[in-house]
Amino acid sequence: MYFDGSPRNPRRGRGRLAALALSGFAFAALGLGLGIRAVDGGPADAAVEPAAATAPAPAAPDPAGAPAEVPAAPKNTMSALAPPYRAQAVHKVVLEMTEKTVEIAPGKVVTLWTFGDQVPGPVIRLRVGEALETTIVNKTALPHSIDYHAARIAPNRAFADVAPGESFTYRFTATTPGVFMYHCGTAPVVHHIANGMYGMIIVEPAEGLPPVDRELALVQSDFYVSDTPGAPADDAKLMSGIPDVVAFNGYAGQYKETPIMVKKGERIRAFVLAAGPNTWSAFHVVGTIFDRAWIDGIHPENLNLGNQTLNLAASQGAVAEFTLDEEGVYPFVTHDFTNAAKGAVGLLKTEGAEGTMSH
Ligand code: CU
Ligand code: CU
Repeated sequence: MYFDGSPRNPRRGRGRLAALALSGFAFAALGLGLGIRAVDGGPADAAVEPAAATAPAPAAPDPAGAPAEVPAAPKNTMSALAPPYRAQAVHKVVLEMTEKTVEIAPGKVVTLWTFGDQVPGPVIRLRVGEALETTIVNKTALPHSIDYHAARIAPNRAFADVAPGESFTYRFTATTPGVFMYHCGTAPVVHHIANGMYGMIIVEPAEGLPPVDRELALVQSDFYVSDTPGAPADDAKLMSGIPDVVAFNGYAGQYKETPIMVKKGERIRAFVLAAGPNTWSAFHVVGTIFDRAWIDGIHPENLNLGNQTLNLAASQGAVAEFTLDEEGVYPFVTHDFTNAAKGAVGLLKTEGAEGTMSH
């Protein structure tokens, strides 16, 4: 938990020391050891576990200058479709916190810390008036926690650190509709977010959102890749604030390589989150204008009409609704183009479109 190291909670203080001590290559060794552990968290496990289990040990950079060998690891790609709303008075979510070694951009293999064995963590969706009961299960060697921006709750109680091997459950009732971030709040928070511990929670108004033809969930985040393949985030790069990779949904340019297929004229609703830890999103879809958008809270008074770009600080979420009026290939980007060049770019392609587009 990131507010203080109160002497009333000595476990929290030790957690911070442990996290700080385990920096650099020590993290790499730790990450590898945990990366090959069997986990049973997310739906992607079956697909990724064999590759992770056979990944060779990451080699330290050769002092003579030879490039370190990059271990084989699965691509950290995922569907861009938002999960549908499912009515439940109490939504029960179990999130195993794991470590896994994956590729986040071509040739860039890192160890990530996860919620639900995936980065970003799973999209959680409920409505105002419903409760969310989360159980976090810490399968790593470091303390972790979960901080929901959608909650009105005492952080020192709910967002407390959970020691390795332990689990913790808490519940809150959603009061405010919007697109919110959740993340690990264990110190140093910047490391826990940079290593992948974040996700999106969508709180719909009590009466729900009006139906549309297609819903997408896009989480933009920034990565600070170590020179040691397979290691967690590089401390010095992270403190510089200049990322190597900026991605939607965990892999640089994944929807440029495999465009998101849509239909001409259909109504598309994109839920967008700028997870950071540091980098903002200037979310923009080339070739259209957002008819309606909300930033953070989904209230009638927050309705934005006619945005070209959404200005999302790290942690902010948004809903953007739009149509693509001609058959074609429509890039979506952060219009902070240095970060688009680092991977925060994708394509929406209508079913009748020919060819592709580089942007
Ligand atoms: Cu954490
Ligand atoms: Cu936060």
